[in-house]
Amino acid sequence: MSIYYNSESCTFFLDGKNLTYAMKVSESGYLAHLYFGAPIAHDDLGSGRITGRDAIPTSMPGQDSPKYNYTHYLPELSFFGTGDFREPAIQIQNPLGDRLCDLLYRSHEILPKKPAITGMPSLDGGETLVIHLADLACGFGADLYYTVYDDASVITRRASFVNLSKEPKRLTRAYSFSLGLAGNDYDILSLYGGWSAERNLERTPLHHGVFSIDSKRGSSSSTLNPFMALLPEGTTEEHGNAYGVNLVYSSSFVLKAEGLPSGDTLLTGGVQDFDFCWKLDPGESFEAPEVVIAYSDKGIGGMSRAFHDAYRNHLIPKKAVRASRPIVINNWEATSFSFDLEKLKAIADGISGTGVDTFVLDDGWFSNHREDEYSGMGDWFPNDQKLGGSLKNIIDFVHARGMKFGIWFEPESCNEDSETYRTHPDYAIGHPDRPRCYSRHEFLMDLTRKEVREYIADAINGILRDYEIDYVKWDFNRSVTDMYSIGRDSERQAEFAHRYALGLYDLCDRIIGANPDVFFEGCASGGARFDPAMLFYFPQIWTSDNTDADARTRIQYGTSLAYPLSSMSCHVSSPHDGNPTATKTRADIAHLGATGYELDSSEFTDEDRATAKEHIIEYKKMEELVLLGDLYRLDDPFGSNFFSFLLVSKDKSRAHLTLYRKSYREPAETKRVRFCGLDPQKLYEIEGRETPLHGSTLMNRGLMLSLPAHDCATVTCHLTEIYQ
Ligand code: GLA
Repeated sequence: MSIYYNSESCTFFLDGKNLTYAMKVSESGYLAHLYFGAPIAHDDLGSGRITGRDAIPTSMPGQDSPKYNYTHYLPELSFFGTGDFREPAIQIQNPLGDRLCDLLYRSHEILPKKPAITGMPSLDGGETLVIHLADLACGFGADLYYTVYDDASVITRRASFVNLSKEPKRLTRAYSFSLGLAGNDYDILSLYGGWSAERNLERTPLHHGVFSIDSKRGSSSSTLNPFMALLPEGTTEEHGNAYGVNLVYSSSFVLKAEGLPSGDTLLTGGVQDFDFCWKLDPGESFEAPEVVIAYSDKGIGGMSRAFHDAYRNHLIPKKAVRASRPIVINNWEATSFSFDLEKLKAIADGISGTGVDTFVLDDGWFSNHREDEYSGMGDWFPNDQKLGGSLKNIIDFVHARGMKFGIWFEPESCNEDSETYRTHPDYAIGHPDRPRCYSRHEFLMDLTRKEVREYIADAINGILRDYEIDYVKWDFNRSVTDMYSIGRDSERQAEFAHRYALGLYDLCDRIIGANPDVFFEGCASGGARFDPAMLFYFPQIWTSDNTDADARTRIQYGTSLAYPLSSMSCHVSSPHDGNPTATKTRADIAHLGATGYELDSSEFTDEDRATAKEHIIEYKKMEELVLLGDLYRLDDPFGSNFFSFLLVSKDKSRAHLTLYRKSYREPAETKRVRFCGLDPQKLYEIEGRETPLHGSTLMNRGLMLSLPAHDCATVTCHLTEIYQ
């Protein structure tokens, strides 16, 4: 049984893979957190009272006794106004104008199957605990959902807030969770970045007070990812405890870690509450997005593997998890907007026969005048003249060469200079009396309005119906500004950022749901919307517009903190900025994800084609490990001259290592690599070497690997179990 309730001690135990989560209903009815970490027995864990220095104690409402004090417990859902001074997860405004809230336990139930969230993506799952809290004085309820898994060391949580009164209320904060952690000797690990340099690692000590990361951009953004990990002092890549949180959400968010006066730590977060106010009419609910909380006693790497297992087993579209991904040639870096039918054919021809199986036509194929970023966006009809008479020409050409055909859309955007904007200027987000902000010369469509979503879905579904399209790259190239919708009255305008997310999910349902045979890849100026909610729709996401192999070692390393390699779209491109990185290096790094090509293959020589073919054969050998293997990060490119990823199959019968060295300095031609995650007893054949070695030798003594004598060099190593 994964969910257990002891009715005598009013304690809940949730036992998942390698973890236990425990909480209890205190004497006063407060839902108090007891424990989260490595599996423990169902012992009597006591009252759950925490000690430590606080300001002058404040009792809970109506209880003049130090026994009844909220700050003496770690919360499962913190609230404000009634004696708790820690960071609240919820704030309401009642009709009288007060903001008082006092949520106590009412009942609980265990559902046999995890219910989906209305209108929002979430992980699937089995048995789910729902705890009903309520503030009967003001008529407000909070339902907390908890699910644990036997195949991933995570717990998923979410909250649903309901107005039980007869008058409207306003939510000015509606986070997804509070999570107490014992002690405060933690470092916070987060992922910051920007365009072309997504998801860099930052590790910083937790202090007393609140540390927060967020987005106000209407997207999860490349500035800060909706991910945070708490690492007790001393936790390393493969040792020590690690606790990670990741929001299944694509719009403005916030995640906070608070060093409490009690000497403990509180994590909380969800929908960004700056610029947020949600009107909740009587009987209505507000669904907060899901948070995935990972635990590992195997360090940061173990935490990442927990997220990867959870996303592969319970989030990413099932049919894409085990299947070979398309190996694409994309024309963007080769041509930008400047192409004609002959050029496209030459690119397809140049790479045909190498193993590349999908040709993707990027930006510039639509409208009558999409020759640059200034015009045509939003006009989803083919530029027949540019395409030599019909879009069908290139589709048929590609299909005739045995390849699939993919196409680019940016469904959420329009240019001012477009038929769409001229016909429906009010469909763009903005205030009627103000000029709008431009970004990449675009406006965004007001996805909070149903008629706008219908308009976009009709246009795109029309193209997907009329042409034989196998693959779609769904791009999104700006942040949301001018958050005002003519579709809502004044008291609902501060709902905009969250409604944009709901509109986006609905649009995904309308387009992706309506085209089950088309493979959809996500993109947002590279990786500016790389979050679990997007993975619910898109099995893979274009990780960055930066395809330079050296930059990619850092981008892919950072992204792998939470997201599996199979979710990262990674292409072999031409060397950038005069950096003569070897083709082999570019291929080796691009193979650590859903690989493909993004270069001018019309210029390929026979030798280039043979090389690409050889590289794709190599990729196919490791593809299953990329899709389903356990990742061990052996070298960190942020802190060293090296980067290495080791992939190990679940049954430990196969492994693949890619080692990269940035700068060649004598005498760094060789490096000893100590493997991880192998079976010590198994004997492994090492490709290219005569002597097999046991897992124990490979993991303890290691293996000396030689790297080519130049900068940005790679070496790969394949291990296969020898059955004795
Ligand atoms: C974004 C994407 C690129 C490409 C261009 C086209 O920048 O990240 O891959 O599709 O848009 O405009």
